[in-house]
Amino acid sequence: MIYSKLCGTGSYLPEKVLTNHELATMVDTNHEWIMSRTGISERHIAANDEYTCDLAEKAARIALDAAGVNANEIDLVIVATTTADQVFPSTACLLQERLGISGPPAFDVQAVCAGFMFALDVADKFIRTGSAKCALVVGAETFSRIIDWTDRRTCILFGDGGGAVVLKADNEPGVYSTHLHSDGRHKDLLCVPSGVSRNYQSVLDGNAFTTMEGGEVFKWAVKGMADLVEETLEANQMTKDDLDWLIPHQANVRIINAVGKRAGVDPDKVITTVGHHGNTSAASVPLALDESIRNGKIKTGQLVLMEGFGGGFTWGSALLRV
Ligand code: UT7
Repeated sequence: MIYSKLCGTGSYLPEKVLTNHELATMVDTNHEWIMSRTGISERHIAANDEYTCDLAEKAARIALDAAGVNANEIDLVIVATTTADQVFPSTACLLQERLGISGPPAFDVQAVCAGFMFALDVADKFIRTGSAKCALVVGAETFSRIIDWTDRRTCILFGDGGGAVVLKADNEPGVYSTHLHSDGRHKDLLCVPSGVSRNYQSVLDGNAFTTMEGGEVFKWAVKGMADLVEETLEANQMTKDDLDWLIPHQANVRIINAVGKRAGVDPDKVITTVGHHGNTSAASVPLALDESIRNGKIKTGQLVLMEGFGGGFTWGSALLRV
């Protein structure tokens, strides 16, 4: 049996930090409200001349370094992003060129905040089937570009960042299983209702922004991610006690706590990093993973369940031994 094994992680946050206090000078809000409803105190915002591929590249180089892998060993590049640099080529192709990799497949995956889980699932399947031996999987976003900075219901939540992992084929897990779901009936609850083919004028006018029914998204995110914990553990005949860490999508501390509670996971085993980077969409899970490995929380050999939830709705999980 071939499995994919995590052998390096990396992440990057843009230099500029936007605090709640600064946000309170931009919209009618305050630090206390944002902290009590979201647990977020600050987020990072890309510079005007900094793009998603820049964040992806920085995170990827750190992950390659941690894995001790040369770029020329990579035979698959997947970037999960909602905020691609260009309409085409894909951000993965741009990243591939920067890393000096030519030939192996490189493509983007778009599943918004669940994007990294979808990308990891695809990479895992490439490796399990023998189609790839060493994959670079990145989640990177400049979500600030699709935020209306006059809308206090959304602008307090999101930030920019990138996270990356290197997966290698191995005889032992590694990734035990991945689980993906989507339900397009909820397409209007969290979306940017314009793009290249539809409402293009709003893109040209600079008004292509994220809209969200916050309360509804909250409810579905908690249910989706709590159910995923059960589905993932059951598929592997494991229990919550086997888990060392749960990394839910870093959207909101209240969502993270509610997922842990509903799924019956010990709060001490739930990773929370959203407080200092906000919701970075596809980057949130690999950012939390990298930070927790680097600060010594997550140790080699431990069992980690990661999960994402985003617009679509899309949601997915992966259970792995790191
Ligand atoms: O990847 C998934 C991405 N999306 C999410 O994670 C979003 C999930 N939803 C949430 O996190 C929460 O719904 C929010 C944090 C967005 C909102 O929290 P809430 O507890 O659901 O608040 P609410 O929308 O019910 O609003 C309560 C009040 C309203 O005032 P009224 O109508 O009661 O007078 C809002 O207008 O809070 C007001 N409000 C604010 N006040 C100060 C909304 N946003 C703000 C704000 N500052 N930024």
